[in-house]
This record gives sequence, structure tokens and C-alpha cells, in this order.
Amino acid sequence: MKIYHMMNISQYLLLLLCLLGDIALIASTSVKVKPICIEEERKALVSFKQDLTDPSGRLSSWVGHDCCRWEGISCNNLIGHVDKMDLRNTCYEEWDKLAFNQSRLGGKINPSLLSLKHLHYLDLSLNDFEGIHIPKFFGELTTLRYLNISFAKFAGEIPPSLGNLSNLNYLDVGGYYPFEIMHSKNLDWLSHLSSLKYLNLQGVDLNSNTNWLYVVNMLPSLQELHLSNCKIESLPLSLHKINFTSLLILDLSFNPFSTSSIPNWLFNLTSLRELYLSRNSFNCHIPDELANLKSLEYLDLSYSRLTGGGVHIGNLCKLKTLHLAHNSFDGGWIEEFLGSLSNCPNNTLVLESLDLSGCGLEGQLPASLGIVNSLQHLDLSANYMNGSIPQSLGQLSELVELDLSENHWDGILTEAHFTSLIRLKGLSISTYKIGKPMSLVFNVSYDWVPPFKLLKINIFNCKVGPGFGVWLQSQTELVDVSLSYTEISDSIPDEWWLKLSSQLTWLDLSYNQFQGRLSSKQLTFPKLDYIRLDHNQFEGPLPLWSHNATFLDLNSNLFFGPIPSSVDQLMPKLEEFYISENHLNGIIPPSICRIQNLTVLSLSNNHFSGQLPHAWTSYSQIIIVDAAYNNLSGNIPTSMGLLTSLQILKLNNNNFGGKIPDSLHNCFVLKSIDLGGNKLSGSIPPWIGGSNVSMLYMLQLRSNFFTGHIPRQLCNLGYLHILDLNHNKFSGTIPSCFNNLTSLVRDDLYIYDQSYMQQTMLTVKGQELVYNTTLMLVKSIDLSSNFLEGEIPQEIGSLILLGTLNLSRNHLIGKIPSEVGNMHGLETLDLSNNSLSGQIPQTLASLTFLAHLNLAYNNLVGRIPLGSQFQTFTDLSIYVGNPLLCGVPLPTKCPGPTDAKPSNEDGSDKLWFYVSMVLGFIVGFWGVCGTLLVKKSWRYAYFQFFDDTKDKVTLAIALKVARLQRKFSHV
Ligand SMILES: *[C@@H]1O[C@H](CO)[C@@H](O)[C@H](O)[C@H]1NC(C)=O
Ligand SMILES: *[C@@H]1O[C@H](CO)[C@@H](O)[C@H](O)[C@H]1NC(C)=O
Ligand SMILES: *[C@@H]1O[C@H](CO)[C@@H](O)[C@H](O)[C@H]1NC(C)=O
Repeated sequence: MKIYHMMNISQYLLLLLCLLGDIALIASTSVKVKPICIEEERKALVSFKQDLTDPSGRLSSWVGHDCCRWEGISCNNLIGHVDKMDLRNTCYEEWDKLAFNQSRLGGKINPSLLSLKHLHYLDLSLNDFEGIHIPKFFGELTTLRYLNISFAKFAGEIPPSLGNLSNLNYLDVGGYYPFEIMHSKNLDWLSHLSSLKYLNLQGVDLNSNTNWLYVVNMLPSLQELHLSNCKIESLPLSLHKINFTSLLILDLSFNPFSTSSIPNWLFNLTSLRELYLSRNSFNCHIPDELANLKSLEYLDLSYSRLTGGGVHIGNLCKLKTLHLAHNSFDGGWIEEFLGSLSNCPNNTLVLESLDLSGCGLEGQLPASLGIVNSLQHLDLSANYMNGSIPQSLGQLSELVELDLSENHWDGILTEAHFTSLIRLKGLSISTYKIGKPMSLVFNVSYDWVPPFKLLKINIFNCKVGPGFGVWLQSQTELVDVSLSYTEISDSIPDEWWLKLSSQLTWLDLSYNQFQGRLSSKQLTFPKLDYIRLDHNQFEGPLPLWSHNATFLDLNSNLFFGPIPSSVDQLMPKLEEFYISENHLNGIIPPSICRIQNLTVLSLSNNHFSGQLPHAWTSYSQIIIVDAAYNNLSGNIPTSMGLLTSLQILKLNNNNFGGKIPDSLHNCFVLKSIDLGGNKLSGSIPPWIGGSNVSMLYMLQLRSNFFTGHIPRQLCNLGYLHILDLNHNKFSGTIPSCFNNLTSLVRDDLYIYDQSYMQQTMLTVKGQELVYNTTLMLVKSIDLSSNFLEGEIPQEIGSLILLGTLNLSRNHLIGKIPSEVGNMHGLETLDLSNNSLSGQIPQTLASLTFLAHLNLAYNNLVGRIPLGSQFQTFTDLSIYVGNPLLCGVPLPTKCPGPTDAKPSNEDGSDKLWFYVSMVLGFIVGFWGVCGTLLVKKSWRYAYFQFFDDTKDKVTLAIALKVARLQRKFSHV
């Protein structure tokens, strides 16, 4: 009843006020004449307009006599003078570049503005004055109370004359460095603006000011101060007396402060509501005194190298937003912090947004999280939290966005974890823990219907399957879907696709066992930009769903049929197109060359036949063409020489014939060429290693019909570390200049390409292996099975980083150069099936990595070297076909005095052999494993190669990062 009465009274009051206002309005319109523009001011405005550029005609209304009605101009009702000019652009450049280019004003600023003697409001913000200076005469507009020239692309020194504007309440000169390159060497002019309430110098270079704080301290009325990204280094830690105690908002983020603590005077600003100190490199604890700022509602200390402390900020009971991302807190921090929150009375806790991502948090997530039931946004991503996620999470009934990704969680998530999350819109969960069975498991009943309708779901490396449960099917408002490594092996109901089709922008279902036909559904997803369905068991014709897709990865599925011939019209915006490892057939349609922004075309491991498209043009941006492992034939198109961005060309294991086209010498950024396993002939063209194409790290020509000499210019390829000419018809000698292959000599030389998974066949350690990961660490020269003659050049001994040297099955003669003993990286050495003679150099015994040696079928003589590594080679076949070799492990004993040991008793000889073998094994083993412990790059190489699952996850994480980067760069 009481409330009813009160409402009535306030309603009456309101009504009364409105009536009064109306009467005033009627009085003013009826009694007084509307202000008519003063002629002198009209002329001034016309001159002002003449000097401006105005592409979209925003000032087209600036005609006629009554300038008070012109767009952006207001006049004072009493005296008729122009008092306000608001020419702020409403289009932000970041949002819509085209619209901005139209609507921006620019040109020069005519001093006629000075004729507006009563101007108190001037706003030119968000226009484009293309780097002119702020006019000095602005300092004569002394009637101004409001001046906003932010984001208007002025440059140069801020004129100190602005200090004459003693009536200013509001001054905004902020911009985005480096687009606006404004600076102020000396801020003394500011101290005269004693009425200032709002000051924004964001992005202005104040680097040379050491007294900025003393100047600001002369502004006692200041309520808002924005000095982010000002290159300020000096941050005085103490201040005699602070003047601007009525400050409400302080932004000092993004400055390279040289001080490593948060200054004390800050804690006297007890009226502060918002404090931004992010991205400054403080190297300290969060000071306890911060808890003095009882009025704080918004606190941002992210990316500031803070090292714990500050749990008392939990006592700030008005805090709504707390951003502490990317600092390094210790283990129990979160528990203490949540504990301090409970000092605020339950019903007054207002914390809405808590960002603790990347804070080094360890240990379990405390169940006390449930008391922060005001939370709307919670980000705990990229920490080291382990254990299971507490069920009290399910009490956070206000939660809108929850990010628990990238931690070390295990345990199960149940329906209870989500009981009250009725407002949840974004859910991200993943664990770094790798292995089977998966450590984090969604254990909800198949027909559970959750209380939320998500817009975004992101689950990675967490068991959700095997079924695509009702809880997922009920999410029909999704815009952004990532369910990757979730062990779902179900098919997706048509209705779900249909409901999502109009709004979906992001779809990642990679690395599951999703099944079912997709494209029979005739679906279109007009907004879908990013699509990953790779590594599943989807089938049917290719789902080319979205006209707007830029990224489409369908690798490793069961798709069949051809690529539609109008692929360029179906997906005109495609940038990366992956359809490897499917059952696709037919030709590669020529229209693919017309997809303008295509950078990656990955078609390998299908049944494509016919020729490669010939319609390549110089407009193409393509970087990777991978058509390996298909049935393609014909010549390599000459037009590929127009692809000046091409870095990786993989056409291996097809039926290509003819020669390598000379036109490819224009592809001057080529880094990797793989043409192995075709029917190519002719010689290695002179442009490979010529002055143009010099960045190759891989030249793979194995199993073709190439002839001629190995050209010396290959030695110019300083980055080359995989050269495979195995199984061709090359003749002549091995070039002696191989010691110029710098990346096999020095390990500081790398060339990086896209982290593209290249499958290539290499003979390593005596077996043909398909390398499936990055080839950066493979270092191999394979010239086997050719007609090479002459001696092995001793210069080859300089290739100390080479891992594999295979010269077998040629016609090489002469001795094995003793310099081979310098090749400390050598794991595989195959010189078998040649006509090498002389002794095996004793120096080979020092190659501690050497694990595979083959010297069979030569004319080698004398004693097999004694030495640690050699004793591990117990397979006698590596020496067979050299009848004059002798000594351990061969049964033939060496004659002469060097064989001094009494060897009459077979037993002792054998015993000695086994002892030395074990020793050799230990030394050899430690040689490898010891290095693994010490040398990081080796460790990578080994573990990447052996641990396939881990490798996949690592890659997936890398891709994830890349994806996020893409995502942000789109925003
Ligand atoms: C505080 O501001 C007043 C008015 O601008 C000024 O006179 C005084 O010097 C300032 N005090 C300090 C400590 O800077
Ligand atoms: C901060 O406040 C304390 C207590 O009111 C006062 O003694 C001190 O002088 C103030 N410090 C500054 C820098 O104004
Ligand atoms: C806050 O609420 C929790 C559970 O709702 C209760 O255990 C706790 O005692 C309350 N704290 C205060 C200060 O009221």
C-alpha cells in the first residue's frame, strides 16, 4: 500500500515536471523569435566548409541563410550566436572502412572559426585530417568548454596554446598510436586548465615528460584521466599531496613504466570507481593497500607481471569487474581470494566478471567458487589447475560465459555441474591432459536437457561421446561450435543442422568419429566462415555448404565423388581448402584456379585423375599446392610458373610425365618441391639453385626417370636439408661442393614455412618411412640407385648435421674418405653396392649416433674398426660381399701382428666380443638418450616422430592458437 502511494506521488511529480517543461517550451517558442544566424558567423562557417573535404556531402545542408539549422550547428536560443559545432563522424574506421572513407571529413581547418565568438562546444572527432597539426589558433577559442578532436588523425606536437582554454571542462585529444602520431614534449600548458574534469591523451607520446603527474596534480576538478599507451616511463612513487582526489576513472594502461611497483599515492584516490593498469610491467605483488579503494567497481591489472598477493581485493565489495589475466600467481591464490570474497556480506556481493586466465594458478578449483553467485563471466583458462571441477559451479545462476579451457582437469562433469546455469551462453572446456582413456569426461544422461541455450560451445580433448546426446541436440541457438577430440562417434540429426544453418559462423568437429552423409541434406549456411570436419567418418559428396566460407578442412573422411566443376562459384571466398585422405575422384576442375584468395589447396591421397588444371594466373595467391598420392597424369602445367607466392609444391606419387617446366623459375619463394614417384624425365633444371629460386629446403625427386649430372648449382641452396634423388638415372660424379649446403653445416640457419603437414617418403634407418610431421628437423641426402661414378668427395665430411647419407647402389670407387668420421649427426650411412675399396676408416668408430650402417658389396679390405659404436653392429649382412674384411664381428680373423690377442680359444674371443657389444650398446644408447635429455631440438624430433597421439594433440593446439589469432584478426 505504502509503495503504491509513493509511486503515485512520484508519478504526479513527474507529470508536473513534464507539464512545466512543456509550458517553458511553449513559452520559448511562442514568445521569442527563433535564433536567426548572424551573418558574420554564417560567412565564417562557409569559409570553414570550403577548406574541408566532405566525400559523402555530410555538410550539404550548409546552404541558405539560417546557419543555426545547418547539420551539426546549434545556436544559443537567447543571443542567436553559434555555440556548438558537432561534426563527429559516426562511422568507426575499425568497424566499416568503406563507410568511414565516405563519411570522414578532412582537409584544412580555416581560422574563420575564430569568428564564432560564443563557441563553447567543438567536436571534430573520428574524422581524417591526414596528419596535419592541430591548429595553434585553437588556443584562441577561449569560450570553449568542450573540445573533442580524438581519433581525427592529427599529428605532431599538441600546441601549448591549448593552455589558454581556461574554461575547458572536457578535453579529448586521444587516438590510436601509431595512426595518430601526436606528442607533447612538455605538458606545462595543461596546468592552466584548472576547470578540467575530463582529460584524454590516450595514444599521445608523452615519453619525454617526467613531470606529467605534477602537472595533472594542478587539476583539482579532474574526474576522468585517460593516459593509456602514452609511452610514459616515469611513474613517481610518491607525491607530496594529492590534489585530484575526486578522480573517478584512471587509465594508465599500456605504458612502459620503469618503476616496478604500484605507487602509494594511488591508494589515496578513494573515490575511484574504475582503475586500469593493465599491460604495465610491474614486477611486484598486488599491494594490500589496493583494498583501500572501497569505491572500485572496475579493476584491470591484466598483463602486468604481478606475482601474487592482493587476495584482499576480495574485500572490495562494490567490485563488479576484476581482470587479472596473465600475471603469475602462486598455487593457493584462488582459494585465498575466494576466501576474502566471503568477507563481503552475501547479498551485497556484486562481482560480475572475473578474468584469471593465464595466471599460473595451480591446484584444485575450490568448491567455495559457488558463493560468488553474482558472476556472469568467469575465465580461468590457460592455468595449471588440476583435479575435478567442483559441482558448486552449478550454483552460479547468473553465469553467462564460462571458460575453463586449457587446464589439467580430470574427473567427470555431471548434470549437477550445470543445474542452475540458466543464463549460460558461452561454454569452453578443455584439458591439457593427454592419454587414453581421456581424463575429463562429460557424464550426463543421453536425454538430459540442460537449462541453457548456448551461443558458443568449445570442448576440446574431453570425452563427450560416444553419443551426440540430447543435451547437444537441444542447443539450437549456437553460432560458434567447436567439439574436437571428444570421442563422439554418432551421426548428427538433420533437425540440428537445419536449426543451426541460418546463424552458424564457426564449426569445428575435427578429430572425432562422426558418421553419416552430410551433403544429401541440401543445407546452406550463409554465415559459416570457418569449417573443420576433418578426421571423422563423414561420407557422401563434398559438403560445399557456405558461400562465405574462407576455411574448409574435410581431410580424412569418407567423402566420395568429384569436386563440383563450379567450385569457384560455390565457395568464392575460400582461402584454405583441405580435402586430403578421402575417396574423391574425377578431375580437378580448372575453375579452382579462379578462387581468388586461395592460399592452400590440399588434395592428396584421393583418386583424382586427369591433368592438373592449367588455368593458373598471376593473380593467384596460392602458397601450397598438394596433390600427392593420386592418379594424376600429363605434364606439370607451365602456367604454374605464374604462381609467384608458391612455397610448397607436392605432386609426388602420381603419373606425371615430361620435364619439370622451366617456367617454375619464377616461383622464387619455393621452399619445398616433392615430385617423387612419377614418370618425370630430363635433367634437373638449372633454375633450381639458380639466382631466383634459392630458398628450397627440400628437393625430393626420388623414383623418376631423371638423367644427367647432379648440377653444381644445387650447392647454392643454403637452406637445403633434404635432397632425395634415389632411384633415377643420374650419372657423373657427386659434386664436391656439397659442403656449401649451409643448413647441414650450421644449426643457426632455419627457414620456416607454414606449419603444413607434409607427407613425404624417405629412406631412413634402412626403411622407407612416410614422414608425416614437420620436415624441419630431417636432414638427409639420398643419391642411391643411380649411375653415379668416381670417388666420394672428402668435402662431404663437412656436413656435420646430416642425419642420413645414402649413396648405395651406384658405381662409386675409391676409398671411404676418413672425413666421414666428422659427420657427428650421422644416424644412417649406406654405401652398399658400390665398388669402394681400401679400409674402413677408423674415424667412423667415433660416430656415436650412427645406428644404421651398410657397407655390403664393395671391395673393402682389412680390419673392421674397433670402437664403441661399431660393437653394436652385430648384423653381419652389412659387411657381406667384401671378402677381404676381417676381425670382429666377422668369423674371419685378421692376420698379422695387430691381432696380438691370443685368440686360440674360441670361447674367450666370443666372450670378449659380447662384453664389448654390451659396452658398445650402453655407450651408444647413452649417446642417443643423453643427447635427448640435453638437446631440445633433438628431443622434439624424436618425440614428435614416435608419439603420434601426442603429436596430433600438439598440432591441434597449434592450430587452435592459429585459429584464435585468425578470429581476433577478424574482429
Ligand atoms: C593543487 O591545485 C592547486 C590549484 O590548481 C594548485 O595551486 C596547487 O599547487 C596544487 N597542489 C599541488 C601539491 O600540486
Ligand atoms: C594520503 O592520505 C593520508 C591520510 O589521509 C595523508 O596523510 C597523506 O598525506 C595522503 N597522501 C597524499 C600523497 O596525498
Ligand atoms: C553466505 O552464504 C553461504 C551459503 O549460502 C553461507 O554458508 C555463509 O555463511 C554466508 N555468509 C555470510 C557472511 O552471510
